[in-house]
Amino acid sequence: MAIKKIGVVGCGLMGRGIAEVSVKSGYDVVVSEINKELLDKGMAAINQSLSKAVEKGKISESDKAAALGRIKGTTDMQDFKDCDLVVEAAIENLDLKKKIFADLDKICKPDAILSTNTSCLSVMDVAAMTKRPDKVIGCHFFNPVPVMNLLELVKTITTSEETLSMATGWGKSLGKTIIVAPDRPGFIVNRAFLPYIVEAFEMYEQGVASKEDIDIGVQLGLNHPMGPLTLADLLGLDTLLFIMDAIYAETKNPKFIAPVLLRKMVTAGHLGRKTGKGFYNYT
Ligand code: CAA
Repeated sequence: MAIKKIGVVGCGLMGRGIAEVSVKSGYDVVVSEINKELLDKGMAAINQSLSKAVEKGKISESDKAAALGRIKGTTDMQDFKDCDLVVEAAIENLDLKKKIFADLDKICKPDAILSTNTSCLSVMDVAAMTKRPDKVIGCHFFNPVPVMNLLELVKTITTSEETLSMATGWGKSLGKTIIVAPDRPGFIVNRAFLPYIVEAFEMYEQGVASKEDIDIGVQLGLNHPMGPLTLADLLGLDTLLFIMDAIYAETKNPKFIAPVLLRKMVTAGHLGRKTGKGFYNYT
């Protein structure tokens, strides 16, 4: 089977990014949301991002028009029936993801690959909801999807080599570099990333240094695009807390215990850029 048509479940930050990079790479794309309001918001963001690419001279007006002609927004999961590969990018809720996979398994053609963009949940748990666990794989993209070059493919104990090879081909065609991770908590990237974030929170909480110095230190001293506390604000502190709690619940490894300050900030509604306040102010 050749991969020609991509389905994306969810048109939030990650879903719309995956839809955008897929359509820009020439695929037909169907992207879904749970209601028209969220769908319109996501589709408008894709349109805006494509317009920016035109302004910057990265694509032409006709490329943009062609891309928009290849993408369809929907609130009806039945529209995934002829997709070759579907990426689920819904919120990080295992019960919801399990239901989506059970539905996709019934709706999608038998040889379609089903994948999840989860950053912390067990891919095997959603694969087990289907009659095609060999065709289920994790496709972990990074935020912002159009900019980040990595795609972490997560191979479960049941994912077939053929599925891995097809997902690899698709990811490469989007311009991403592929790494293959085992279906273990944190995969590769978050297993390395989260203890680093915890250390940054602890340094700040313990008064070792100011938030600015922690961020500037890492940014310039290690040549990262942004420091850990700025990055936490970009990701969303609620998202970060969810990921840490999920990985700790599975591993019971103290390396992944969420910092107290992170929990307090989330309780206070200081979620980072999305609420205008996190470690820094964005209003
Ligand atoms: N969508 C599309 N393009 C975007 C974008 C977005 N959301 N945000 C920035 N860009 C583009 C800009 O348009 C710009 O493009 P040009 O170079 O063509 O002009 C380019 O990215 C650089 O942007 P800026 O000049 O505005 O700002 P910057 O240089 O500070 O870059 C950044 C912004 C790309 C976010 C950069 O700071 C960065 O890479 N930060 C680190 C992000 C990161 O680590 N992400 C991974 C998080 S972990 C994760 O996602 C997974 C998980 O499971 C937790």
